[in-house]
Amino acid sequence: MKLQILQLLLVYIGICTAYTVLKQHELKYFSDKKNVELLDPENENGLLYPILKPRLPGSKGSKEVRDHIISFFETLDAGWNIEQDAFVSETPTGPMNFTNLIITRDAPSSESDLKRLTLVAHYDSKAEPEGFIGAIDSAYPCALLMYLAAQVDTMLTEHWSTGTDSLGLQLVFLDGEEAIKDWTDTDSIYGARHLASRWESEKLLESIDLFVLLDLLGSSNPSIYSFYASSHVYHEHLQAIEKTLRRNKLLKSRRGAPSWFRRAKRFEVAGQLGDDHVPFVERGVSVLHLIPVPFPDTWHTIKDTGKSLDPVACHDWALIMTAFVAEYMNLTGFVSGNSEL
Ligand SMILES: *[C@@H]1O[C@H](CO)[C@@H](O)[C@H](O)[C@H]1NC(C)=O
Ligand SMILES: *[C@@H]1O[C@H](CO)[C@@H](O)[C@H](O)[C@H]1NC(C)=O
Repeated sequence: MKLQILQLLLVYIGICTAYTVLKQHELKYFSDKKNVELLDPENENGLLYPILKPRLPGSKGSKEVRDHIISFFETLDAGWNIEQDAFVSETPTGPMNFTNLIITRDAPSSESDLKRLTLVAHYDSKAEPEGFIGAIDSAYPCALLMYLAAQVDTMLTEHWSTGTDSLGLQLVFLDGEEAIKDWTDTDSIYGARHLASRWESEKLLESIDLFVLLDLLGSSNPSIYSFYASSHVYHEHLQAIEKTLRRNKLLKSRRGAPSWFRRAKRFEVAGQLGDDHVPFVERGVSVLHLIPVPFPDTWHTIKDTGKSLDPVACHDWALIMTAFVAEYMNLTGFVSGNSEL
């Protein structure tokens, strides 16, 4: 009896996590049409350039970055639901205004079973040192989220017009990740703490199929470990994507370079990495934390600007994550282009 229940459970888990790998010509298609100039830190009309400025919670820069993100999503074909989650929180310097941005596209058939792949980065910057830009922290991850949504936008429309998939795509731009003074449990991750507690009371945490947090990305040769058993299978999918792309010479990083997605598990250090995922992990959400360990050298220094981003890594992240999102969203068969490798 116990065994049968276990078997049933395994079948059920199998259905929920069915994951389809992209065909080689589909990877090639994404590689050909990648539009990575959108992520060029010097392209004034791109996605990244307008984020490369100080953007403290409640500041003019913060509002400008939000407006940039919102107007970009308004240009996409499909209707993305844009929510500004504004709140006031006590900080060591008094009450401050914060605003999370939550941008969602749900599948038409999602009413009964609301599920979302939730991709997350923080858009605020740190107060010190003065003039701090935070290109890896997390301007590039934010621009990457915008880029990913655009890459799969029309494919989702086609996919959803034929199938019964209920999985939606959600991008969350969190405010107030950085400490206002010194990092403590109460002076940090303001936006994440607010949102996790709100979604808990609104029963929306259950709709998160996987919470993928992108942080400190854009430097050369990141080493990304798997921190959670619950998301380990997705870390393995990323390993496989990297390997296939590299084997087919679609990545710009050296073919012989160490794999970004390290095989060694680091479940024991997960608790030492304070970041926006923590209030979600604490509430039982399955999290994939994409953060390089060790942190890049420019971390929390004045040198963390667009100029110190590595164009090779920025290119490769764009392609790897596009493939990951397309696979997770079950888009194989809907990626246009027939060029066989
Ligand atoms: C993926 O999409 C195909 C149709 O393209 C569908 O047959 C299949 O059931 C979908 N898989 C999942 C896990 O929803
Ligand atoms: C927060 O925003 C409100 C409304 O825009 C404004 O009146 C208030 O002064 C702001 N508070 C702070 C601390 O900036």
